[in-house]
Amino acid sequence: MKTIQSDILIIGSGIAGLFMAVQSNENKRIHIITKAALDDGNTRLAQGGIACVTHSADEFESHIQDTLVAGAMHGNPEAIRLLVTQAPTLIQELIQLGVDFSMENQILNLGREGGHTHHRIIHAADITGSVIQAALVTKVKSQTNTKTFEYFLAIELVIENSKCCGVIALDLNTNEKVFFQSNNTIIATGGCGQVYQYTTNPSVATGDGYALAKNAGVKMKDMEFMQFHPTMLHHSLANGFLISEAVRGAGAELVLPNGDSFMQFYHPLKSLAPRDIVSRAMFEEMIKHQCSHLYLDATNISEETLETHFPNIRQTCYNIGIDIHTQPIPVSPAAHFMCGGIETNLKGESSLPGLYAIGEVACTGVHGANRLASNSLLEGLVFAKQAAMKINSEDEKLTAILNFQSQTELDYNINDATLSEIAYLKKSIQTIMWQHAGIVRSELGLLSGKIKLNIINDKIKLIETEFPNAYQLIELKCISATSECIIEAARVRQTSLGTHYLKIKSKYFKEEEKIHRFLINKNTNSKNKYPTIA
Ligand code: SIN
Repeated sequence: MKTIQSDILIIGSGIAGLFMAVQSNENKRIHIITKAALDDGNTRLAQGGIACVTHSADEFESHIQDTLVAGAMHGNPEAIRLLVTQAPTLIQELIQLGVDFSMENQILNLGREGGHTHHRIIHAADITGSVIQAALVTKVKSQTNTKTFEYFLAIELVIENSKCCGVIALDLNTNEKVFFQSNNTIIATGGCGQVYQYTTNPSVATGDGYALAKNAGVKMKDMEFMQFHPTMLHHSLANGFLISEAVRGAGAELVLPNGDSFMQFYHPLKSLAPRDIVSRAMFEEMIKHQCSHLYLDATNISEETLETHFPNIRQTCYNIGIDIHTQPIPVSPAAHFMCGGIETNLKGESSLPGLYAIGEVACTGVHGANRLASNSLLEGLVFAKQAAMKINSEDEKLTAILNFQSQTELDYNINDATLSEIAYLKKSIQTIMWQHAGIVRSELGLLSGKIKLNIINDKIKLIETEFPNAYQLIELKCISATSECIIEAARVRQTSLGTHYLKIKSKYFKEEEKIHRFLINKNTNSKNKYPTIA
């Protein structure tokens, strides 16, 4: 197998991975591998912006408190203080890199989002993520010490003498395996929204980093805290498009199909309550009113504000026949952000020496049990810089080249029937996760989810014996491994907290469990090609 050596190996090319490359010393050889194009991840879809204290009426303590409260007081105060106090410097660094944030009267325009007690969201209209991504891609491409490898899928961490020394990746251009050897391996692969049936995340968000870590026995934390965003555009052509919380910050209100508001019955901040509370309230109302979605009414926002602050949202809705100036927007909650992940310290170091995690895939402790709006891009920046500073301060030289036996078995012959089986299993996991580990959970539901996942894993193992290197199968395995992490963590936490909300256990639980196990056994023993899993 070919070996490619570097001082810093970054897996993933969202805000965290690219900013890490930008912050690393010029004398380090940096390699970035990414399974799609450099700008194909979640970052480019981020709309709202970056939370940052800049206004004289605002203060760090307030941003810290809002972050703690949104996170159900489960966050790490030290990590949160670091996050909040680093924000102004990092915003300046982005501006120097050419990021053009929205200004008003020559000062940064500040939006407002759920859970924030002040206007403090710095943004570039409603395309903040893509503007930042573009600036970082340009910068990284200009760095002579940085080499990018697009369409390389990381499949396995390599550990020697209890230390991570790189990753084996599949070159999707040639289907060959390559060993990327490095003293410093950084997982920056983003999140896992694709684990769920409904998500605002793009198709690449399949939980690859969590699976890499889980398979290597790296410590994970808080995986039960999947955040559901209240306002995904609910339309068959919308493909999980997000209606930014900033629209509610500008005055839009969530309403029932008959136009009545309801959030006043759930929280004093109404439609701008923390996300977990809003999503749950919507879920309850959707059940009560037997409807698949509710509405976001933005018709009270001025035409000028909608045009200048939300041009992308306005146009996207318009393209599918919704004029947001005059019509309410159909919305429903969807999986959005994993608050937990690979456990790290404040320098981004994981439990495995030589391995770092930054961005959404990491659990730095800043989000607690529910992330505060617009703290995610900020987390990516802050901890990328922390990890870069740690590695910059070291002067470790690469040891000898490690060689692996070449194992370049190719899967050129994967057939359509197998591909549709993989697609079917992926859909099945997404449905199971939505039903059993979604916005409202129960002990029995989580147990059912676990048993159903086991059945699917048996099918996956069978396919693996024939097509171990099929890209689609590897992604499916990542989705499955991440789902297991979420369900396992959720089963351990037996009381509700933040995004992890448990229905009270029924007094009939034991009986229900017996019936359930009986059905599962029947299913597993059936001769059907596919077990009934949903
Ligand atoms: C949004 O614009 O609503 C999303 C921002 C975030 O996820 O924090």
